[in-house]
Amino acid sequence: MKVNVISRSGREVIKGGLELNDSATVDDLQEAIHKRTKKFYPSRQRLTLPVQQGSKERPVVLSSKKSLKEYTNGNSNDLTVVFKDLGPQVSYRTLFFFEYLGPLIIYPLFYYFPVYRYFGFKDERVIYPVQTFALYYWCFHYFKRIMETFFVHRFSHATSPLSNVFRNCLYYWSFGSYIAYYVNHPLYTPVSDLQMKIGFGFGILCQISNFYCHILLSNLRGADGSGGYQIPRGFLFNIVTCANYTTEIYQWLGFNIATQTIAGYIFLVVAAYIMTNWALAKHRRLKKLFDGKDGRPKYPRRWIILPPFL
Ligand SMILES: NC(=O)c1ccc[n+]([C@@H]2O[C@H](COP(=O)([O-])OP(=O)(O)OC[C@H]3O[C@@H](n4cnc5c(N)ncnc54)[C@H](OP(=O)(O)O)[C@@H]3O)[C@@H](O)[C@H]2O)c1
Repeated sequence: MKVNVISRSGREVIKGGLELNDSATVDDLQEAIHKRTKKFYPSRQRLTLPVQQGSKERPVVLSSKKSLKEYTNGNSNDLTVVFKDLGPQVSYRTLFFFEYLGPLIIYPLFYYFPVYRYFGFKDERVIYPVQTFALYYWCFHYFKRIMETFFVHRFSHATSPLSNVFRNCLYYWSFGSYIAYYVNHPLYTPVSDLQMKIGFGFGILCQISNFYCHILLSNLRGADGSGGYQIPRGFLFNIVTCANYTTEIYQWLGFNIATQTIAGYIFLVVAAYIMTNWALAKHRRLKKLFDGKDGRPKYPRRWIILPPFL
C-alpha cells in the first residue's frame, strides 16, 4: 500500500511517499519514516489523519499497534497521514529521575554546609531536632519517588518532550532550594515538640499511604505498561479518584505543620493546585471511559481529590 506523509501545511515530508506491506501497522510506518528521515525516531512522530480545511474536529491520532488498513476505510490502497515532529524526547523515567534528583541533593547542602555565610550570617548555626527530622523526611520522600519511578510506576507513554525536563526541574529544584533555605536558616524558630511530632507522624502515615496507592495503581497494568486506564479500587481509591494526589497533598501538609515556613506552605498551595487540575482531568477521563454503556462498567460515584470538598 502507498502511504503519503505530509506536514500540516500539506508539504510532502517523504518525497514520493512510502510503499508498505498490506499488513503493515502504524509501528511499521513509523519505523519506515525513521529509516528515511533518520532524525525523526518513532517516539518523536505524531501521526494523524487529515481533517477538512476549516473543520473544528480534532484529528484522529494513529495508534501504534493498529494496522494501517484500519485507517483506510478498508477499501483503499492509498493512505495519507499528517506528520508532526514532537521534538526531542526522553523517557518518563529520565524525566522523573532528574526532577527528583535536584531536591534530593540541594536540600542537604543547606543542612550540612555553611551556605548561610554567603548570605551574610557569620555565626555558628544551632541545629534544632526539627531541622534534622525535616532533612530525613525530605530525603525519604524524594528517594521514595525515585524508587517508585524505577520499580513501581507502569507508564503508558514511552516518552515526554525534552523541554519538560527543564520545566519540571525548574519547578522542583527552585522550590526545593526555597524551602531548604528557610527551614535550615540560622534564624529559624522551631515549633513546639508536640506540633512537630503530630506533623511528622501524620506526614509519614500519608507517605506510606501514598506508596500503597502507587502499588495499587501499578497493579492495574501489565509489567510492560499495557492495559490502558482501569478503575482504581481498594484502600482510599474506594472513596476518591486520585487518592495518590490526596495523600501527596496531606503529606506536604504534615511536613508544613512540623516545620511551619511560608515557603513550605506556598509549595503546598502550588502543588495542590497543579494536582487538582490533573485530578479533574483524570476523573473526567475515567467517567468517559467507564460510562456504563455497551457493556462497559460505570465509574462509581467518588470524590475527585479532596473529600469532602472536591
Ligand atoms: N508535589 C507535586 O507537585 C506533585 C505533582 C504531581 C505528582 N506528584 C507525586 O508524584 C506521583 C506520580 O505523579 P503522576 O502524575 O505520574 O501520577 P499518576 O498519573 O496519577 O499515576 C502514577 C502511575 O499510575 C498510572 N495510572 C494512573 N491512573 C491509572 C489508571 N486509572 N489505570 C491504570 N494506570 C493508572 C499512571 O499511568 P500513565 O503513565 O498513563 O500516566 C502512572 O504510571 C503522584 O502520585 C504524587 O505522589 C507530586
